[in-house]
Amino acid sequence: MRRPVLAANWKMNNGPTAAKTFMDAFLAGYKPRTDRTVIIFPPAVSLPTVAAATSGRSDVIAGIQNIHWAEKGAFTGEVSAPMAADAGARVVLVGHSERRHVFGETDAQCAKKCLAASRAKLAFMLCVGETIQQREAGETESLVTRQLREGLSQTPNLISVDFMLAYEPVWAIGTGLTASAGDASAIHTVLRSELSQMIGTRGDEIPILYGGSVNSTNAASLLGSPEVDGLLVGGASVEASSWLSIAGI
Ligand code: 13P
Repeated sequence: MRRPVLAANWKMNNGPTAAKTFMDAFLAGYKPRTDRTVIIFPPAVSLPTVAAATSGRSDVIAGIQNIHWAEKGAFTGEVSAPMAADAGARVVLVGHSERRHVFGETDAQCAKKCLAASRAKLAFMLCVGETIQQREAGETESLVTRQLREGLSQTPNLISVDFMLAYEPVWAIGTGLTASAGDASAIHTVLRSELSQMIGTRGDEIPILYGGSVNSTNAASLLGSPEVDGLLVGGASVEASSWLSIAGI
């Protein structure tokens, strides 16, 4: 069945020097395990550091938090999927809520990024999730369904593409409010059902992670829910000791 995925999204924390210190401490404490995959999403400048540190470990892989959809060109400040792959990334976050809400990223742009990732042979993790206003208006299911369908709409042969989903309710990110295991399961079930309509039994293999104020206290109960295949962790993944206690649950 689906192997749990424990993913650390450092956001704009841990530059190259801090990343090296983190990886030394984390890998010293996290013995190789075959029953789960750990992904570290550092800032782009720290990707080579994380990739080098994980090169001897198949159970810990490096990712990147964002890519541009073009392969190269006049896009000051951006990083393309082939460049990220060249620097050692194996997976990319697409449509994280901060990209959507702080930087105005649209579903159409997410769709182009998923396509770019798949062309570069990077796995992608498409993030979906509702604001508190959308939740209170009863729009959660229709919104995440739209984000899922539109995000995947440009990627051909999805059945053979390596991707994951992350459900991150915006109201739970960085707020200390966590969706209950039941709330998360309900939305994961909606996403799973959409996947099965789109790609049949291949949908059963796609990991669906939960993210939003996950910490070492609530991680085990969230991951214990059968619909939750992994965790995408922000604040509690920035320090090696905290991340060790979550990745090792
Ligand atoms: P927090 O864990 O800090 O709430 O962030 C969640 C998140 O956005 C991970 O991608």
